[in-house]
Amino acid sequence: MNGKYKAFWIDDDGFVEVIDQTKLPFIEETVLLKSADDAIVAIKDMIVRGAGVIGNIGALGVYLAVKENQDLKYIVEKSKEIRESRPTAVNLMWAVDIMLEGILNANADVNLLELAKNEAIKICDEDAERSLLISKYGCDIFGDIMKKKNKTSINVLTHCNAGWLAIVDEGSALAPIYEAKRRGIDIHVYVDETRPRNQGANLTAWELTQSDINHTVIPDNTGGYLMQQGLVDVCIVGADRVSANGDVANKIGTYLKALAAKDNDIPFYVAIPEGTLDFEIKDGVRDIPIETRSEDEVKYIKGLNKQGVVEELLLTPLTSKAVNYGFDITPARLVTALITEKGVCKTDENSIYKMFKENK
Ligand code: MRU
Repeated sequence: MNGKYKAFWIDDDGFVEVIDQTKLPFIEETVLLKSADDAIVAIKDMIVRGAGVIGNIGALGVYLAVKENQDLKYIVEKSKEIRESRPTAVNLMWAVDIMLEGILNANADVNLLELAKNEAIKICDEDAERSLLISKYGCDIFGDIMKKKNKTSINVLTHCNAGWLAIVDEGSALAPIYEAKRRGIDIHVYVDETRPRNQGANLTAWELTQSDINHTVIPDNTGGYLMQQGLVDVCIVGADRVSANGDVANKIGTYLKALAAKDNDIPFYVAIPEGTLDFEIKDGVRDIPIETRSEDEVKYIKGLNKQGVVEELLLTPLTSKAVNYGFDITPARLVTALITEKGVCKTDENSIYKMFKENK
């Protein structure tokens, strides 16, 4: 794909331009990343976000470090800083480690900058291929559900944003939805607004609008009621990290949706590419690191006022405390299956190991 993806691209000077996700859906603007430090700020401030794209910008951040300075000590130091810029999405560590391995094992006569650029592009291209495969496996599941229920349309519920702003170039959870549109399936998506940062209301709704996909934004508390009323056929979310035993870390609030889905006998799928798996962590509920972000993301809300100006407003008494866990863990037992580029996989250690370690 030559380093050009929907959410970011390498420009003619070899710098990385990204869509500023903090401004969507109100303002469509890009930010130019010229250094590893720029990539770190973009990840920390969530100018880019979503596990896959965080990993891609992590890889490109290592390439930008090489572009700045080819001293290996500098590259290793910057890679460490990039690796630590957000803690939960393991795609970041996965991608940075692939980059470093390639750089540190390169022959002395190799053009390091070319190598780093090609390696980063390869990671992004392979993610794009993975998301396309996920789109097909996931959409086949939609087909099976419609057949079983003898329906000609399907209602899907999703949480956060797991579209092409989060994984190149189709997404993870949204990938099967895009495929459904291509196959002419009558699909409707319930979009959890996803407080506190509203990735559903701001980003998923924006993506679906761009593709003319029928959707309804719902407050985060609404899903359970919809499920009880038979208005949801399937839930599908992405993930930031899946442990060896199949526990799923995803945006805060995912766990509650999985509980409601279980209670109402509604299938709950998690769509992930390989880079989201963490075989080092055996018990995700216990050991997946969960990011805690600023209280202000809970206390303030951003939106467009009636004069067309983006504003931030305080929602709580100024002195109230707030807590802002970025993610929660959905235990494997609540997940119907993982939808991956290798196919559909049960969430138990044996099945995950077989699909990803024995099936290389
Ligand atoms: O904090 P964010 O916006 O980076 O969180 C993103 C999510 O939780 C997504 O659902 C997740 O990354 C899966 S899609 C790649």
